Amino acid sequence: MRMAGDRGGGWYPLMLSADLEPGTVAGCILRGRELAVWRDGAGQAHVWDDRCPHRGMRLSLGFVREGTLACLYHGWRFGAGGRCVHIPAHPDLTPAATIRAAPLRAVERHGLVWTAPEDGESSAPQDDPAMDAVEWTPVRSLRIDAPWGNVATAIGMPDGCRVAVLDRDVAGPVLAAILPVDGTRCMLHLLAGGPADRGGDRGRLHDLADWAQDVCRRMEETA
Ligand code: FES
Repeated sequence: MRMAGDRGGGWYPLMLSADLEPGTVAGCILRGRELAVWRDGAGQAHVWDDRCPHRGMRLSLGFVREGTLACLYHGWRFGAGGRCVHIPAHPDLTPAATIRAAPLRAVERHGLVWTAPEDGESSAPQDDPAMDAVEWTPVRSLRIDAPWGNVATAIGMPDGCRVAVLDRDVAGPVLAAILPVDGTRCMLHLLAGGPADRGGDRGRLHDLADWAQDVCRRMEETA
C-alpha cells in the first residue's frame, strides 16, 4: 500500500548518505551526466561535474585532502565552490579565479545525498511530512539494468514518481528512491523506517534487502 510519494521534482537521489564516508569521493551518473560526489573532512557533501577543468580527468578518481578535492592526474586541488586553490607544479602561484570545477547543488535529507542539476528547483528535496516524521535506516543500493520507470512500476510507486514511501505491511514503511542513470539503467536506493540498532529490526532489514534483490533479478530478466 502506498503511504506517500511525489513525482520527484528536479531533485535526484544520488546515493545513500551512509555510503559516502568523510574524506572520500565516488562517481555517479544522472541521466548520462557523470558526477563526482565527495564528502569533506567536516562532513559536508559536495556534488560536482566529474571532469577536471585542467585536462578533463574524472575527479571521482581523485582524493580528498584538507577540505579540497584533488585531481589524480596532475594534483590540482579544488576547494569550496569548485575553485582551484593549488597547482603542485606551481606551488607559489595563486590560481586564477576562473579555474574551477563545476559544482551542482547538494543536499542531504532522509539518509540520501540529493542534487538538482537545473536552476530554479526548490531549495530542498522531498518536503514531505510522511518522510520527515520517520528516522530512516539505510538498507542498500542496487544497480538495475532496466529503465527507471519499469522499476518504479514494479515496486508499486505512484505513476511518474522516482521517490516514495511504501508501506510493505509486514516490513513497515520503506523509502524507495530511484536514480535514473540513463535510458536503460537505474539505481534503486532503499531505506527502512526506524533506527538500525533495534535487534528486532535486523530480520526486517535482511528481508527488505532480499526483496530488493528479487526485484532486481526479475527486472533484469524481463528487460
Ligand atoms: S587533468 Fe586534473 S590536474 Fe590535470
